[in-house]
Amino acid sequence: MINSENSVTISVRGLEKFYQVVDQKYQILSGMDFEVRAGEIASVEGASGVGKSTLLNILGAMDSFDGGEVEVCGVSLKNLSEKQRENFRAEKISFIFQQHLLLPDFTALENVMMPLLISKINLNQAKSQAKEMLKLVGLGERTESFPSQLSGGESARVGVARALVGKKQLILADEPTGNLDRDNSRHLMDLIKSLQNEFRFSLILVTHDMELASMAHKRNRIVSGRLTPING
Ligand SMILES: Nc1ncnc2c1ncn2[C@@H]1O[C@H](COP(=O)(O)OP(=O)(O)O)[C@@H](O)[C@H]1O
Ligand SMILES: [Mg+2]
Repeated sequence: MINSENSVTISVRGLEKFYQVVDQKYQILSGMDFEVRAGEIASVEGASGVGKSTLLNILGAMDSFDGGEVEVCGVSLKNLSEKQRENFRAEKISFIFQQHLLLPDFTALENVMMPLLISKINLNQAKSQAKEMLKLVGLGERTESFPSQLSGGESARVGVARALVGKKQLILADEPTGNLDRDNSRHLMDLIKSLQNEFRFSLILVTHDMELASMAHKRNRIVSGRLTPING
């Protein structure tokens, strides 16, 4: 899954991002520089509205940017066509969201199979890989449940299974425990930690939960549009 332990998964240089609202231009990211290596967990912390989700969406080729260089998993994200963005996302990265965004009309198993089917993996293989991953997140008995039949903690774990099933190089998580109570947050955090230890993907962890952030190898916060290491 990963080329080499020491390779660079994310390289950001001089990243600029503006939003235009009516005739006002707001600068959200201003000359941001950072690097994340293969197998590294990096947190992105900071107050609400500082640009955490904006940064994550840029790294996942969900959003464009206005200046600088962004290279993710060996792909320069500047000037990608819509089709190239889609391919990049399908091949290289996964998202874990706060509102895990499970498809309500599909079972847990089908939700986890979805990214594999999009990557054109055959049905039987997709099914067995998705089952395996659901087992790993402790939901081996719930494969046929629909999202409405799962608790918040269980849904979050299905979201994690769906993100990890394709064995991507990079997982982008936006406040993954944001909707969970403390016990479920701890459970999800331990789960992500142990899966990262097993699969060694790089992980960008956007959070304002200190306990969750403490699992990062490198902690950072966005200050004045730049990513600044948190020491200690
Ligand atoms: N599509 C958009 N158009 C205009 N402003 C936006 C848009 N998306 C986000 N913003 C603004 O950019 C800032 C950063 O947003 P966001 O990245 O979501 O912050 P965070 O995730 O750190 O809470 C906020 O002030 C937000 O209102
Ligand atoms: Mg956000």
